[in-house]
Formats: sequence, structure tokens, C-alpha cells
Amino acid sequence: MEWKRAGRQAENRKYNTLEASPLYPSGTLRIDELTAEERTVYATLKPERLPQHVAIIMDGNGRWAGHRSLKRFLGHQQGAKSVQMVTETASRIGLPWLTLYAFSLENNLRRPRAEVNFLMRLLRSYLESNVQRMMDNNVRMRYIGRTHELPPEVQEKMRWVEETTAGNTGTTLTLALNYGGRSELVDAFRGLAAEMKLKHLNPGHITEEDIHRHLYTAHMPDPDLLIRTSGEMRISNYLLWQIAYTEIFVTERLWPDFRGIHLLEAIAAFQRRERRYGGLGEGCGEVEEDPEQIRIAAG
Ligand code: FPP
Repeated sequence: MEWKRAGRQAENRKYNTLEASPLYPSGTLRIDELTAEERTVYATLKPERLPQHVAIIMDGNGRWAGHRSLKRFLGHQQGAKSVQMVTETASRIGLPWLTLYAFSLENNLRRPRAEVNFLMRLLRSYLESNVQRMMDNNVRMRYIGRTHELPPEVQEKMRWVEETTAGNTGTTLTLALNYGGRSELVDAFRGLAAEMKLKHLNPGHITEEDIHRHLYTAHMPDPDLLIRTSGEMRISNYLLWQIAYTEIFVTERLWPDFRGIHLLEAIAAFQRRERRYGGLGEGCGEVEEDPEQIRIAAG
């Protein structure tokens, strides 16, 4: 079976056509495809408590290159390899949603043109050379951000990969491109204001759900876990609305060194946390039967 599939894939590559993998839904495990090291960490996880959505701020490409006296672009190139490796591990453990901060609005405005142009070329080449691997791993590709401002040839490649992978039912990999959390909120409020005007709605009736419906991420759950590489303790304008109750995991590891095993380690740390959503957790002290009986000593 396996050799037949490999043969078909080689044939397809020759004719530049793409093959859908045998479809399995997100949540379907392919643990046998993890590395031995990954399997060891996976064995410590509680499968019933896997996060539904992991978001990552991929940081440290430049430093990775600098530590090796290499040019920055080689750090980005290595970072693109990490994107693929981590996505494949995510798909093997049945993670439904993975959202990566690949290019911010601020990157677009504040980095030297030569670096921005390189990142655009890298994105195109990443999409082109990994689309078959997306198919093999049943990964569906989506994007969030002001993507209509990206160069037309990049948008064209993005559309092609999105359409090619649209029928896949495993992990949805979302790349945040030309993305900013505040501009997402601006776009959402503009959309909501237009809807209200059209339907003659009363602003006093706006709910959180109305705002959620107009976010780029309306179709997905909020992230359970946000990972940031390279040790910086910042959110950097990423998914501002969506991370209200997200657990944050910061690692010193630089993104080009981040692999599937590190994703699994972050999930293990996430599973050791107690999520409270503003409520009370275990060991929080006893709640008085009648708080009226407690004398308040302030100051
Ligand atoms: C931060 O590194 C990373 C980015 C600018 C965005 C992430 C980009 C990639 C992983 C490469 C391409 C991605 C795809 C999907 C093809 P930095 O340059 O800010 O690092 P530094 O803080 O060490 O300088």
C-alpha cells in the first residue's frame, strides 16, 4: 500500500499535480509517525486534555543567525523549516488548529525593504515546495491578516495552496500574514458598524459574540495555548482579543531550533496548569458560608 502511494506521489510530482491523502479528521492520531523522542513526551500527555488551538509567536530567527555569524535571511530560511516540522507533529497528534505569526504589519512597515522582500520570496517558495507535504499530512492552509496588501504574486500562491488543501480535514494551519491584533479589531469594528447600519441595530445591544463574528478568526476557537520562542515576554500585537484566557508558554529556544518535540513539551506544561477563567481553583481557600459575618479591615 505504502509503496503504491509513494509511487503515485512521485508520479504526481512529475506532472505537477497534487494528491489528496486518505482523509482523516482532526483529532485522528498518527502517533506511529512521531519520532521516538516525541513518542516519549507524548506518552506523558493526557490525550483527553490536548489543546484544541495552539498559537505561536515565532521569534529569534535573526539571533539564531547572529549567533552563528550568518546573515539574517539564513535564520528565516531555517525558521521556515521549523514551520513545516512543527506543523507535521501537530497533525500527527491530531491538533485541530495551529496559528503561526509569520509576518506582522509592523514587520512590513519597520523592517528594511530587502528583508521584507526576502520574507515574501521565502513565503512563496515555502508554499510551493510544501504543498504536497500539506496534502500528505492532511493539513488545511488558511491565512489571517490584511493579506490583500501583500504582493499579488504572493497572494496568488497563497490562494492556490488554500484551494488545493481546502478539502483536508486534519490540522488547520493558519499563517498570520501582514497581521496586527489592533488592526484586526479595527477591521472587525468596521464590519460590525456596517452591519449595524444596514440592519438599523442599536449599539446598546452589541455583544462579545457580535465582535467575535467579525474577527478574522470567527471560524475557529480561541487559542488554549500561546507559545513564544526566544524568551521575550511580549504579546507583540498578536491575537489580542482571542488570548483573553489563553495559557502563555515562553521558551528561551530560538524559533529555528524549535521542533515538534518542543511543541509536545509546551503542551505537557500546559496540561500541568490549572485553567480558571476568572473562577476559583483547587487550594484557593475556603469560601465563607456567610461573607456578611466577616469584619472588613481595610488599611
Ligand atoms: C522573527 O524573527 C520572525 C519573523 C520575522 C516571522 C517568522 C518568519 C519565519 C519563521 C520565516 C518564514 C515563515 C514562513 C511561513 C515561510 P526575528 O527576525 O524577529 O528574530 P530576532 O528577534 O532574533 O531578530
